[in-house]
Amino acid sequence: MKSLKILSMMLMLAVSVWSTGAFAQDAATDTPSDFTFVQLSDIHWGFNDPKMNPDYAGTLQKAVDAVNKLDPQPDFVVITGDLTHRAKTPEQRIKRMTEVRTILSGLKVKDVRFNPGEHDADQDNGEAFKEFFGKAVYYSFDHKGAHIIVLNTTEEEASLGEAQLQWLQNDLSKLDRDNAHLVVFTHRPLFDLYPKWGWSTKDGQKAIDMLMPFKQVTVFYGHIHQLNDYMTGHIGHHAAAPLMFALPAPGSQPKSTPVPWDPAHPYKNLGFRSVLVKADTGECVITEHSIADSLGN
Ligand SMILES: [Fe+2]
Repeated sequence: MKSLKILSMMLMLAVSVWSTGAFAQDAATDTPSDFTFVQLSDIHWGFNDPKMNPDYAGTLQKAVDAVNKLDPQPDFVVITGDLTHRAKTPEQRIKRMTEVRTILSGLKVKDVRFNPGEHDADQDNGEAFKEFFGKAVYYSFDHKGAHIIVLNTTEEEASLGEAQLQWLQNDLSKLDRDNAHLVVFTHRPLFDLYPKWGWSTKDGQKAIDMLMPFKQVTVFYGHIHQLNDYMTGHIGHHAAAPLMFALPAPGSQPKSTPVPWDPAHPYKNLGFRSVLVKADTGECVITEHSIADSLGN
């Protein structure tokens, strides 16, 4: 009987961790204090064109090693989509998700948060992604005084969708507009960066409108495979570097084809960021880490 009770408690714990989309969760996270997190993005595991990245099989491991060397270690790692490159078959998708999850399990930090990109989710409605990385593809949690919101921009073809927008409205309704510190993660930009290349979220403006009354909001996203900083009013939107191949500046050429590898500057466009969230103001202080720097190139 006792062992049954323990088993059911373990199951409940597993379900609660699973449903937040995290590998594991921190215990005491309610007390406000400064903290750091790391954002990884656009891993595109399965991409294998050596002209764009001859180290396509080794770049992610280099990023994991570099994150593991950070001192102090971040409180959590968030991965803002496109963990896998779009697969041709369900079997290939499963294989890629298995491999990428295995490499990420080498992170010393065990609190890892996920949200999907279109490469992960648009062919099977995110089913495989949910199985591998958490049933909830949009969710929020509180961490050391900050309210963290993870949005899924792959609903209904590049949208948030009505159900998620209603959830967001409800989530935000519990917060103090003057004093809440909001940190938002998405895959696509919520604003129209360059819709011609799909660098937007169809109903992203509705989310921005909901966030706008809050005094302290910072949005971190991926998708465009390059660093980019943009303001909508007082809200900063910061695109992260990719971990497989870079893309050109918005509208700088006819098509958004990958930027070829530069042998003179290997890994120069690839990297991740760490972010210090200040407890007193909610301000986010961003440090970019290139894979080239981590290798001493
Ligand atoms: Fe991507």
